[in-house]
Amino acid sequence: MNNEMAIREDQKLEIQAATDIVRLIGEQVQLRPKGREFACLCPFHDDKNPSMFVSPQKQIYKCFSCGAGGDVFTFVMNYHKMTFPEALEHLAERGGIELKREKMTKQQLEAKGERQLIGEANEIAVKFFRAMYANEKHGAAGREYVGKREISDEMMEVFGVGVSLDAWDGLASVIAKKGWDIRGFELAGLVSRRQDGSMYDRLRHRLIFPIFDAIGRPIAFGGRKLREEDEPKYLNSPETKLFNKSKTLYGLHAAKKPIIDSRTAVIVEGYTDVIACHQAGAKNVVATLGTALTREHAAELRRYAEKVVLIFDADEAGQKAADRAAEVFLTGEVDVAIAVLPNGHDPDSLMKEEGGPDRWYGIVASAEDALSFLFVRLKEQMDANGTVSGQERIADGFIDRLVQMGLGKTGAIRRAIVIRRLSGLLGMSEEAVGQIISAKAARVAQYRRPAETGMTEESAYADENEDIGEYTEKSVADRVAGGDLGHKLKSVREAERQILGSLIRDHGLFHETLQIGGEEEGVREVVFDEALLPAEMSNDEHRQLYQVIYDKLSEGLELHVTSLIADLVSEGCEGLVRLVTEIEMELDRFGVGEVGDEGLKDMFHEAVKKILITRREKEYEEQRRSLQGRGVMDLESAEDKLRLMKELVENRRMNPSPMRIARFRRG
Ligand code: CTP
Ligand code: MN
Repeated sequence: MNNEMAIREDQKLEIQAATDIVRLIGEQVQLRPKGREFACLCPFHDDKNPSMFVSPQKQIYKCFSCGAGGDVFTFVMNYHKMTFPEALEHLAERGGIELKREKMTKQQLEAKGERQLIGEANEIAVKFFRAMYANEKHGAAGREYVGKREISDEMMEVFGVGVSLDAWDGLASVIAKKGWDIRGFELAGLVSRRQDGSMYDRLRHRLIFPIFDAIGRPIAFGGRKLREEDEPKYLNSPETKLFNKSKTLYGLHAAKKPIIDSRTAVIVEGYTDVIACHQAGAKNVVATLGTALTREHAAELRRYAEKVVLIFDADEAGQKAADRAAEVFLTGEVDVAIAVLPNGHDPDSLMKEEGGPDRWYGIVASAEDALSFLFVRLKEQMDANGTVSGQERIADGFIDRLVQMGLGKTGAIRRAIVIRRLSGLLGMSEEAVGQIISAKAARVAQYRRPAETGMTEESAYADENEDIGEYTEKSVADRVAGGDLGHKLKSVREAERQILGSLIRDHGLFHETLQIGGEEEGVREVVFDEALLPAEMSNDEHRQLYQVIYDKLSEGLELHVTSLIADLVSEGCEGLVRLVTEIEMELDRFGVGEVGDEGLKDMFHEAVKKILITRREKEYEEQRRSLQGRGVMDLESAEDKLRLMKELVENRRMNPSPMRIARFRRG
């Protein structure tokens, strides 16, 4: 290990020690204590029931549904889409640890990813716009406008609001003068290139609202015009590798904690609305960016909140808004409620009125759930239409809409709620309503099927089987007899995992003496490290992980789950990290403990036995077939069988494992 790596190794452990995984993950998703662990909705897939577990003892997390798992580093890398060095930096900063930096070479600079370039350009731009705001001359118009809108200094700070220059080359000329890398600014959409190659500012003479991600990194900007005659009113950054508009929620960096604490997210429509709410003390408020609430928004919010309250201005709380809310409800992501503001108000204007904040809390608290909202309007429409056929048409259209929104695919409970309400309203039995919905849903499904590319339940299942089949590799599969092959292979896989887990927990088992062989060919003793070699594992991942463990333990090195994972993470072996966490949690489930635990030892022995027996059966079978193929003999007699087994055992003895060779050399 060279010196630089040693430093990094050191810092990795220091950072790990300074970071509590429960707090780290708890800042992003709601954790609930469950036994010795914490459970939460997995942020790495569309989770409906908590399938992720976080272990404070081991400082790892694991999702039993999608398989995501690892330590503090992998969590940050995957959750915030960072590279390992970025995650290192992020956690170091968070833990108050100063990273010893290595100088970057020119190549390294050039290799910096687009995301990073954009991120850095955005960081610089935030500072620039803030500085311009503070500038006596350049900030004057902006400060006057902010004064008029009554935005407090504190909110200006929290939301990083600034101002762009009233010029075509405000930012562009500073970039040139300072010699900053223009690529990031161009990719970020902060500057554009003219035909002649010269650069100009995209955001000119605007109040700048940086759009931060959930952890406060600027990913885009919104700019509000400062001059009445300018158009458009708001100019936003284009979508980039960092900025996906339909996923992003404005203000989330400041609202996240309050949302987690209140379990409720309130969604408004504008930048200024969010700021006004926070200023008035209502801090669980975010905004979509000029779009309706999407499923992606809902999925993001679901990590923090159980309930989402959509706030509409009186004039726009129409059909479409309600439909959208109901749709989000039906996807099962979160509970959705709708509240409508008094006529002529938006949150900003309401909050600035006398008694506004109190009215605000009242309005949020009395928000009506999305379904009721929808049903009340349906009833109004039906009542207004006197004829039976007219009512029928309205009801039919309504059910159509619900089905289009995904009612056919929604969970049983939500579906039952909708059916009960419809049945009451239409005076039909729940059964009849259910049948109508099923029929409509079937038509929709039929119509949609060819276009859908998502994984169906069947194909997910097939995938899993394929995984189990890794061991077989056609040629072997063809030769191994027996109908319960799938079952056997699966148990081999399980056994291997139990072995790997046991070794990580109790290094002594690596040198455990095993009894192998059988009554027929005689029992002999062998040390574990000679009996099972990495190459003999049934799939690549097991092979690789065992190789790492094998190398460490045979050198007599320490091996702890946390440092093992940290090593694997820094070497980019994400698959193996998942595997380790999976194995760790499986052993916990199994209830086996640490060093010296008899349960652990028993499990280990059982697992090794399972593998050795399977291996021998396979070898025996192979040998028998190959001999038979050559017409040598008919191996039906017990005598022949025994002879073959002895041959196999002898064969193994003649091909010693690396450990045996090492031992032999050492004498
Ligand atoms: N919006 C946008 N582009 C526009 C207009 C609006 O992206 N041309 C988005 C912005 O996110 C804006 C939100 O839609 O904040 C709401 O628009 P609007 O109600 O017009 O603006 P307000 O936020 O109320 O801004 P202001 O009070 O300054 O008029
Ligand atoms: Mn407004």
